[in-house]
Amino acid sequence: MPLLQDAITLRGLVCPNRIFMAPLTRQRAKAPGDAPYELHAEYYAQRAAFGAIITEATQISPEGKGYPQTPGIYSDEQIAGWRLVTDRVRAAGGRMFLQLWHVGRVSHVAHQPNGQPPVAPVAARSKGYVSIRHPDGRRERVEASMPRALETHEMGRLVEDFAHAARCAKAAGFDGVQVHAANSYLINQFLSGTLNTRDDAWGGTLENRMRLLLHVVDAVADSFGYARTAVRLSPMGSANDLPPAADDEELMRCVATELGKRRLAFLELFNHYWPKEQWNGPFKESLCREMKARFDGPVVLNGYSTDVAAAQSDLDRGLGDAVSFGKLAISNPDLPARLARGAALAPWDDTTFYGDDGRGYTDYPAS
Ligand SMILES: Cc1cc2nc3c(=O)[nH]c(=O)nc-3n(C[C@H](O)[C@H](O)[C@H](O)COP(=O)(O)O)c2cc1C
Repeated sequence: MPLLQDAITLRGLVCPNRIFMAPLTRQRAKAPGDAPYELHAEYYAQRAAFGAIITEATQISPEGKGYPQTPGIYSDEQIAGWRLVTDRVRAAGGRMFLQLWHVGRVSHVAHQPNGQPPVAPVAARSKGYVSIRHPDGRRERVEASMPRALETHEMGRLVEDFAHAARCAKAAGFDGVQVHAANSYLINQFLSGTLNTRDDAWGGTLENRMRLLLHVVDAVADSFGYARTAVRLSPMGSANDLPPAADDEELMRCVATELGKRRLAFLELFNHYWPKEQWNGPFKESLCREMKARFDGPVVLNGYSTDVAAAQSDLDRGLGDAVSFGKLAISNPDLPARLARGAALAPWDDTTFYGDDGRGYTDYPAS
């Protein structure tokens, strides 16, 4: 059974270890413009020794934004900013997947073009919270705005927005992309059996609810190829107000099967319920095993907090092929080296998770 320190090959992309950096929103992009800059290049380059880096969620279009100062990947300025990042990371020996994001209804009119309502599969408001930034720099947690339902004729345009973003990511020099289909954002909203009650080809039946994810994966793969396209799911997750549906498990099995046919770079699974409820929470170990068998490709597990032993144990038991760490990657830029040496791990400061400068971002030292 592989050790966390062992190399892994993702459909031909060699990663020097199985310790990946999980996607982490840090809200430090330039305002206005939502472009990353030298600060981001420094932050990611510090973490180049992770097996692979998955970037912070990055909106594919202005409409896909739900929080202040999250970066985008649709403008020339953003491509140039991300190019700084990928150049630095590559020079430091790293590999990067850009996480492609559309928040759907988890947004606020303050973030939307011309103050329009956010878009969603149906016009039902999320009880989740987002944040806005006032002109004086103060951030405030606010309720998500009332969305409008996407019209059927807009769905092609939406898929094209993902395709455009993927072309921009290619121009910015990324090794691959990860489609964010987790955490109750737009694609997850379309997958949901409770929320997506649309009566057109994009909702209702399980097959219809998977349509957006699969069209997006296919569109993105036009730029990167399936072997450099990954997907993140959060099976049975209900963050941001997405109530459970009766067919959630069947949905996850079918999604794993469909994605498996495409032979993607990897499938990342965020287990919200681990380790508190072990694998008996809503996302059960048995479902994870079924998804892995159906996907039949590299599976990256996430959700361990500081429990590195549990991450290794799950690899030992064949539940996944690699793991990603989120919070530990924030405070331990050289995490793979520390784990290899058995060195102490640094704690994170959650007051600096989001915005604004290098404090709590680029100033965690390597050991
Ligand atoms: C500050 C912060 C920002 C996050 N941003 C994202 C994100 O942009 N995209 C995403 O898919 N998950 C995001 N997550 C979830 C993490 O990727 C990860 O799933 C979660 O932190 C659990 O992993 P951990 O226990 O190793 O931290 C974020 C988590 C934190 C703490």
